[in-house]
Amino acid sequence: MKHLLSVTDVKQDIFEILEQAAVFKQDPFSITPMKNKTLAMIFEKASTRTRISFELAMAHLGGNPLYLSASDMQLGRGEIIEDTAKVMSRYVDGVMIRAKEHDDVLKFAENSDVPVINGLTNKEHPCQAITDIFTVYEHKKTYQVKMSYIGDGNNVCNSLLLACALVGMDITVICPPGYEPDIAIVEDAQMLAEETGSKIEVTNNVLKGVKDADVIYTDVWVSMGDEREKLQRLIDLHDYQVNMDLLTHAKSDVIVMHCLPAIRDQEITDEVIQSSINVILDQAENRMHVQAAIIYKLLRDE
Ligand code: CP
Repeated sequence: MKHLLSVTDVKQDIFEILEQAAVFKQDPFSITPMKNKTLAMIFEKASTRTRISFELAMAHLGGNPLYLSASDMQLGRGEIIEDTAKVMSRYVDGVMIRAKEHDDVLKFAENSDVPVINGLTNKEHPCQAITDIFTVYEHKKTYQVKMSYIGDGNNVCNSLLLACALVGMDITVICPPGYEPDIAIVEDAQMLAEETGSKIEVTNNVLKGVKDADVIYTDVWVSMGDEREKLQRLIDLHDYQVNMDLLTHAKSDVIVMHCLPAIRDQEITDEVIQSSINVILDQAENRMHVQAAIIYKLLRDE
């Protein structure tokens, strides 16, 4: 694995990363393989969890995180991605990018001599999804569970489809017509699932989709960049809320997950958030440990 741009990039390495993350969670300061190394982190969009967890992951491993706001760089004034990637390769040992356009991250990686990590694009959020698989395993002690993702088939949903397929976890995506995940990603997930035996489904039917779920997962209905569609989205997604009534159709020991930030009483009720807060905070904490494992895999000297 040279870069982590999509969940599919960890196809050969996912279990190694998940196992290493468990080791780092036990003792985040156990080794310092990133001593004298720098991870630059370019943000084109806002972040709380991704910024903090990547900074701390790099620091735990003895390295230097370098925060860069894209709007403060020459990138924000039109310097081309190709030049930026080539110049940064002379300075740092790895680059994490949160970008509006997935293609921009691909272009950056094509021109980079150092590993590039996708910290969220309009298409995927791989570090979130790999972490979520880790958190499911932490709570269920197995990957052989059914996850029901309900709501907008967005970037997180796309990456969850691929991550579930890689580890053999069943996933049903439940969304209103027009909000389905990327069809090419669904097809990629179905191909990966043929190797691992997981079941990949997309449905508009809420009750069918959450039946016997071990994990119910949701995300905001209005992602960064979708603000102009807000009113229409609230109408279209109204019947796809995670609430106490919905949970009665899942398994009795269902866990509820949310990658945060959450908008209470839109995609999830305050009551459900409060009842599931430990799992949701585990998701946020685990970003730090899983990303430490990703940095360790990509940036360490072999
Ligand atoms: N879940 C997530 O990526 O959070 P941030 O947008 O705060 O980084």
